[in-house]
Amino acid sequence: MRTQVVIIGAGPAGLLLSHLLGLDGIDSVLLERQTAEYVQARIRAGILEAGTVELLRQVGLGDRLDVQGMEHRGIYLQSPGERHHIDFTDLIGRSVTVYGQTEVTKDLMVAREKAGRLAYYEASDVAVHDVSEKPHVTFVDGDGTARRIDADVVVGCDGFHGPSRASIPDPKVWERTYPFAWLGVLADVAPSTDELIYAWHPDGFAMHSMRSPRVSRFYLQVAPDEDIERWSDDRIWTALSERLGVDGWTLETGTITEKSVLPMRSFVTTPMRHGHLYLAGDAAHIVPPTGAKGLNLAVADVALLARALKASFRGDDQLVDAYSETALRRVWRCTHFSWWMTSMLHRHGDDFDAQLQLSQLRRTVTSTAAKTELADNYAGLPL
Ligand code: APR
Ligand code: PHB
Repeated sequence: MRTQVVIIGAGPAGLLLSHLLGLDGIDSVLLERQTAEYVQARIRAGILEAGTVELLRQVGLGDRLDVQGMEHRGIYLQSPGERHHIDFTDLIGRSVTVYGQTEVTKDLMVAREKAGRLAYYEASDVAVHDVSEKPHVTFVDGDGTARRIDADVVVGCDGFHGPSRASIPDPKVWERTYPFAWLGVLADVAPSTDELIYAWHPDGFAMHSMRSPRVSRFYLQVAPDEDIERWSDDRIWTALSERLGVDGWTLETGTITEKSVLPMRSFVTTPMRHGHLYLAGDAAHIVPPTGAKGLNLAVADVALLARALKASFRGDDQLVDAYSETALRRVWRCTHFSWWMTSMLHRHGDDFDAQLQLSQLRRTVTSTAAKTELADNYAGLPL
């Protein structure tokens, strides 16, 4: 089989890339290790930058987003007893939208079905070959048939654990692990807040997010090796109430439907291209979730790559040649922002560190310059 672009991984990066290429008349085939149902049900963050929303609308993916997405003017930043609103719309004229990654994935899958584009789910033993000369990919499909696809270009959208990255020789890797993790909780309860709350607390960071008017999402800072069995529903609600509490406010509780421990790391590999192989999304970089940049960064990569590949197929290689360097500028901006939010809000180190964090928080909620810097990064730079 032959196609123009083989895309490995049908997460948001792979699905969106194939959608964008399709709009430009470029053929692609998607290879995904999991089933479509599994990919669709994976719980991930759900904050879309202004530019991500704009792009999804422009490419015909805005219908459900415009009805179900909840536009937020800003966020709350909290230290014990004090909750401050940072109003992005007032500060910079942009907002963010709460719309689950599961919903973005669903919209992309529906668009894909309609367009009748080829995808192999449950593909195993995916391997990338000869990316310098004659790129091709081999794999075993869901029925056990061994297959080979030749392509002009292979794009690794296969996430942090995928195989594509290994085909880039002599990569330079930057990595930071954090001495804490998040306990993520999904609950059937109306949000007790109109916008997200990020709270510093002596017991550890806590956050109140949401998925819909009836479903809330929460996070608690825990140890990286935390045993989830130690977190009964009662203990979770007590910790959330304490860490998120301010006078005159009550956290509504409900049925917890999912809980899991999420590791936190920063990771960047360069270059993001070798020969005819390109990397996009989590395959090339991971940010800790504080600030919700993961999905938005993946969208930015593939928006850039789709434009570059379109030009390249028309004979102009300027953009593909610049892809890695251009993408990495945004990657490092988001890597810094996510690291900064994470470092400011999570308890680590000693009392001296805590005082520095509180000072930084105070500065961030009181200085217009500091608030604007946060708003600009959180709502996202233009694509
Ligand atoms: N063969 C085929 N597919 C694979 C393989 C493989 N060997 N290994 C991984 N994959 C698939 C995964 O099953 C997954 O569906 O690649 C996909 C990668 O998807 P994500 O991990 O969601 O990565 P990406 O699409 O870059 O996501 C962007 O959104 O919420 C965030 O955490 C998410 O930050 C990430 C971002
Ligand atoms: C989420 O809703 O899952 C979420 C929101 C904001 C973050 C991280 C996660 O910074």
